Amino acid sequence: MVEYVTLHSPACTAIWEVRPDEAPLWRYWGPRLPDGVTPGAALRATRPEPSFSLHDDQPLSIFPGMGLGWFGQSALLAHRGGLDWAQAITACRVEHTGDTVRFVMEDAVARLAVAITARLDPATDTLTLSTTLTNTGEGLLDVAWLAAGNLPLPEDAAAVRAFAGRHNAEFVALEDALTRSQWRRENRRGLTSHDCFPGAVVLCADGAAYGAQLAWSGNHIQSIEWIDDGRRHWQWGEGLAPGEIRLTPGESLTTPEILATVSAQGVNGVSQAFHRAIRARMVWPGGAMKPRPVHLNTWEGFYFDHDLTTLQDLATAAAKVGIERFVLDDGWFGGQNRGRDDDTSSLGDWVVDRTKYPDGLAPLAQHVTGLGVGFGLWVEPEMVNPDSDLYRAHPDWALHIAGRPLLTARHQLVLDMHRADVRDYLFEAIAAHLRSLPISYLKWDHNRDLTHAGTQAGFRAQVLGTYALLTRLRAAFPDVEIESCAGGGGRIDAGIIAHTHRFWASDCIDAISRVGIQRGFLTFMPPEVMGSHVGACPAHSTGRMQSMPFRSGVALPGHFGVELDLRQLSDSETAELAATIARYKALRGRLHAGDVWQGEAGDNVVWQAHGDAQGLLLIITRTAPTTRRHMPHLRLPMLDPARRYRITGDGAPDQVLDGAWIARAGLALPPMRGEEVLLYEVSAL
Ligand code: GLA
Repeated sequence: MVEYVTLHSPACTAIWEVRPDEAPLWRYWGPRLPDGVTPGAALRATRPEPSFSLHDDQPLSIFPGMGLGWFGQSALLAHRGGLDWAQAITACRVEHTGDTVRFVMEDAVARLAVAITARLDPATDTLTLSTTLTNTGEGLLDVAWLAAGNLPLPEDAAAVRAFAGRHNAEFVALEDALTRSQWRRENRRGLTSHDCFPGAVVLCADGAAYGAQLAWSGNHIQSIEWIDDGRRHWQWGEGLAPGEIRLTPGESLTTPEILATVSAQGVNGVSQAFHRAIRARMVWPGGAMKPRPVHLNTWEGFYFDHDLTTLQDLATAAAKVGIERFVLDDGWFGGQNRGRDDDTSSLGDWVVDRTKYPDGLAPLAQHVTGLGVGFGLWVEPEMVNPDSDLYRAHPDWALHIAGRPLLTARHQLVLDMHRADVRDYLFEAIAAHLRSLPISYLKWDHNRDLTHAGTQAGFRAQVLGTYALLTRLRAAFPDVEIESCAGGGGRIDAGIIAHTHRFWASDCIDAISRVGIQRGFLTFMPPEVMGSHVGACPAHSTGRMQSMPFRSGVALPGHFGVELDLRQLSDSETAELAATIARYKALRGRLHAGDVWQGEAGDNVVWQAHGDAQGLLLIITRTAPTTRRHMPHLRLPMLDPARRYRITGDGAPDQVLDGAWIARAGLALPPMRGEEVLLYEVSAL
């Protein structure tokens, strides 16, 4: 008996073919089909048996098995002492309530229970999948791999866009053609990583795009594999180390969630669905996002060189240009004998350095808040320097493997977040400051990759330990916002955002570099969680020089901030910065709501538009001088072809144009300097 299970959202449809004795088959995941549509006939009924093939045809299911006739990637790699390595679902029932379907399955022979939850959210057009595996047999079940989700891609899937990178160079776009070879990206660095963002977008020949991202801040794997019917199998999950998961009888493992969406409108439609999905996952103090305050971060202006009077002066200067939150970065703490004067010591000793702050942080925090500016503090809880009181007292708290030498990075080791005593210590150390000072914000850093993750591998436990500490702090201090930073953008993912409110996208604040980084970021994450700062000139990370209007124009659409010694700016630069801050405040309500589109006009001009077909803020960025006599035209395909639009903005001649004209023929662009940002308003009449 065949049953079709269908989920619809406004833009997407998912259809499974369900039988009581096997895993549901994937029949469709793609752009919205009409209500009531069915595949017509059972999948096996529509395809003859290929020569020399198994008589039991095994199409792609939501839980493809191992060793029993499915020859693609298995959803599970597991065994019990060398046995039960081959798996296939023997029973399946469906619990369908509203937008959510739960497939409750078992393998009676290998003695496994598998439950897959699929929710297609009508508000976000996002399909969320996760898998729970339970060991229903006797003996330890050794799990090497459990897919979070197995997705089908259509036959015209042509290319995949993913992102590589490193510290100071996040979101390096890769675009690979999909062939019959397997495509695979794997992160083994223990946290989300700079060099393997856990998301990708698949581009189809018909213009549709499929996107997926894993809500997880640890190791992850995704692969795309061609299957015999011409579709492709997109598999996602957490990367596990050998021996990491051994389920005792009755014990379960639940994967992270995979967020997946499809848009007939291409990549922008995928990004818009992701933005809505990320917004829906966030938990804001007070229940709703407040306008994103303008930050001043002390790091690049001062590094470890903290002087109370200087920082108080800085805060005063900051308040004058309109800064709303002052974030005291690394350098404020230390141990009994040594303060954090460089990056070689003191991580773990979360006590205010009395040589820098004889009366503690209160004089600075009170000065800042007295100006009407919020006060934020940098911490790097999961880390410890060998040169610290904490490490001297508890060397066993650092991740280590007996008999193996420790490996440092930035002179630091990683604390074992699986240990309750470590988490208790960190909670108390951070809570002491949150209780005694008017702190409304934490910048939470993680400046190295994981190695030595436990004598028994504990990468997963590390992530869960960090989530638990974040959860505990958020519960105790619900008004405090938290920023996720990891040497810049090393921990940007849909898992940590459920506990945090901002990402530091990159330690590279060079505005030219930032254009690409931010465009990659915005593919998956909404602009209000993208920390984007105006840095010094020359840029510390690259040495390149850019004007204040260009630097501030590039930073404008994100969660805007300033990261330099404001007191060093010339009068004209200060005025330019203040003008951008005023503009940001006037526009942030619109920049940080609604949809975002990104596009390229050619000739080194890229654009992004925030809003909807009623009215858009259009940001046009030239990243290099033109080589042309006449400027390119910028086409805005999202405009309503039946309406007329008024265009105003930086140097734009006030003009009214047909939506269809702008969508197809495009907006004539003015000559622009080699590095310049223009902001236009496009308003429907
Ligand atoms: C990392 C962060 C920076 C800064 C430093 C402090 O590199 O990305 O923004 O906080 O740590 O050490």
